[in-house]
Amino acid sequence: MKIGVLTGGGDCPGLNAVIRAVVRKSDTLSSRVVGLRNGWKGLLDPSSMDLDGKMVSGILHIGGTIIGTSRTNPFKDAGGPEKALKNLRILGLEALIAIGGEDTLGAAAKLYEMGLPVVGVPKTIDNDLSGTDFTFGFDTAVSTATDAIDRIHTTAESHNRVMVVEVMGRNAGWIATFSGIAGGADVILVPEIPIDLDEVCDLILRRHSRGKSFSIVVVAEGAHFVEKPGAGGELVLQEAPKDEFGHVRLGGISQVLAKAIEKRTNFESRYVVLGHIQRGGSPTAHDRVLATRFGVFATEMVHRGEFGKMAALQGNRIVAVPLAEATATLKTVDMGIYGIAKEFFG
Ligand code: F6P
Repeated sequence: MKIGVLTGGGDCPGLNAVIRAVVRKSDTLSSRVVGLRNGWKGLLDPSSMDLDGKMVSGILHIGGTIIGTSRTNPFKDAGGPEKALKNLRILGLEALIAIGGEDTLGAAAKLYEMGLPVVGVPKTIDNDLSGTDFTFGFDTAVSTATDAIDRIHTTAESHNRVMVVEVMGRNAGWIATFSGIAGGADVILVPEIPIDLDEVCDLILRRHSRGKSFSIVVVAEGAHFVEKPGAGGELVLQEAPKDEFGHVRLGGISQVLAKAIEKRTNFESRYVVLGHIQRGGSPTAHDRVLATRFGVFATEMVHRGEFGKMAALQGNRIVAVPLAEATATLKTVDMGIYGIAKEFFG
């Protein structure tokens, strides 16, 4: 069997671990693997590379993706989906493994309905894909953000400052909540709960009245203020056009927040945007194991003919869930876990 594999959307640590697992498992099942370059782009405008044991040797711990990625949407232009299906045939591929988040797998779900034999693997540092408890890449992003918060702690304390740390996560507060808990943040702000500036400043003032001279605020890039006169309500954006899936580029809320906190509390404040550092570098052991399990399971799904589904982690088991189900709604942060974080605010 000849299987295509592609990585779409924002990269994340663990992509190479999945590719390696797919190639190694396929080898044991006498199948060949071809990597499509740069996500769906490599299928629309065919560009591929043969992947064998030699190609994937030594990549388990390497960040990024050896086959490249892009935010190409096969449904953006008329005729795109038909072209993708035709090119799959031309390339002689009998199945495709799409490794991606809600955009890449959302497109895969629609292409499956049109006849594409596709299996999904859930990737994203944002952990916002439904149907799976965790996506790979998330644990590494949380570890990186936690390490940054630890470092920010010491300088915050030395200077008696409020430090506002902005993390990624798009419209979900998973990275903020997990890194905030792990890093001992005094306030964590997520997109799911609009920011009430009075409440944030009260928490910081309360902490400082207890003799503390510094505070750490972790804010998700997609967090926004409560809508009330003079307090905004809209997302803070970077100036950039939307991507092919219609997403704006988020970023900058920490700067606005640090300024507002300093004005209200008179505590000197600074902000830090962690940005793409969260997406780079070597995957954690947890992500290497999860990515490997996903890769092996997805390859088995292909050989079972279990198309239109995604390998998913539920509890400690890898199971197959329909792509349509996984991409129907965004998985926002678990309020039970956020509730734990709140116990430590202020
Ligand atoms: O979806 C992953 C992610 O890193 C988001 O957290 C972030 O909003 C976005 O991608 C950034 O995308 P880009 O790399 O295109 O700037």
